[in-house]
Amino acid sequence: MQELDKIITEAKHAFQGARTLPELDQIKGQFLGKQGVLTDLRKGLAKVSAEERPILGAKFNNLKTELEALLESRKNEIKAQALKERLDNEKIDVTLPGRKQSLGGLHPVTRTLNRVTDLFSTMGFSVASGPEIEDDYYNFTSLNQPEDHPARSMHDTFYLEGEQQLLRTHTSPIQIRYMENNKPPIRIVSPGRVYRVDSDATHSPMFHQIEGLWIDDRATFADLKGTVREFLRRFFEKEDLEVRFRPSYFPFTEPSAEIDMTFKDGWLEIGGCGMVHPKVLNNVNIDTECYQGFAFGMGLDRLAMLRYGVTDLRLFFENDLRFLSQFSG
Ligand code: FA5
Ligand code: MG
Repeated sequence: MQELDKIITEAKHAFQGARTLPELDQIKGQFLGKQGVLTDLRKGLAKVSAEERPILGAKFNNLKTELEALLESRKNEIKAQALKERLDNEKIDVTLPGRKQSLGGLHPVTRTLNRVTDLFSTMGFSVASGPEIEDDYYNFTSLNQPEDHPARSMHDTFYLEGEQQLLRTHTSPIQIRYMENNKPPIRIVSPGRVYRVDSDATHSPMFHQIEGLWIDDRATFADLKGTVREFLRRFFEKEDLEVRFRPSYFPFTEPSAEIDMTFKDGWLEIGGCGMVHPKVLNNVNIDTECYQGFAFGMGLDRLAMLRYGVTDLRLFFENDLRFLSQFSG
């Protein structure tokens, strides 16, 4: 009897000393394992007398049940302790400042492009587009700039290998593509990237233009001026905006003008425009006895410069976030 009590006390003590489940498992072996204390006891049972055996057997069974219960409860304690430690360690300090997730924003030229297209939409223009890789016909010939014509040198062109294709130097080829597939009346704008061998404070090798084309039976130069002025007033949100139409030359319009706005102490050219040249209309089989109209092409980067007060256009393309993030509002 006494021996059994002693075993219980010892086991309690030993189980209590175990800090981890593997440790407890090892101690379990000492008592309940094949070579453990209980196995020895059971072997001893064989030697006692027949009368004593059932009594001792029952005690033995009780002892075993009690040890198993002790073991189970210690196991649960260890698990609970481990969980508590983990929770303590992984505690989150909700008073720490959060990690800021910075939001992306649209590039100022993209904002300008969207704003310009939206404004023209409200003025009844639909939006058309065309490829950035063009061929000689669409970029030059169809626009009345025959081979060897000096007007071609007005644009310093990036040619693709083999010189069959080129990066479009302006958005005007879209006029041709659109008129090939649509009959007048036509009223479209077409924004996009264009490319020229060019670089200074007001010129970038990749820049953006928006082309406008309005063809019907009576569109005049006065309509052209009115449309451009009205658009610029809305874009800059200024009623008494200074806009200058300066007589100029483009092979695909006649008469032609450059559109200038005030900038620093002088003028900045923001676009070209004019009445669509009859030869251009002939190239797309539009009857010049019935139809006429005007076109314009404005530099979107220049419009962005003027609207945001930026004095060097190249800043838009250096990808410096300190500069770009100022336009996110
Ligand atoms: C043209 O490209 C004509 N296609 C415009 C046009 C369309 C005239 C329809 C008549 C009818 P120009 O080469 O002037 O014209 O360019 C138009 C505008 O693009 C310029 O006024 C300027 O605002 C902008 N621009 C030209 N080159 C650059 C450049 N390298 N970087 C930034 N903007 C430029
Ligand atoms: Mg020009």
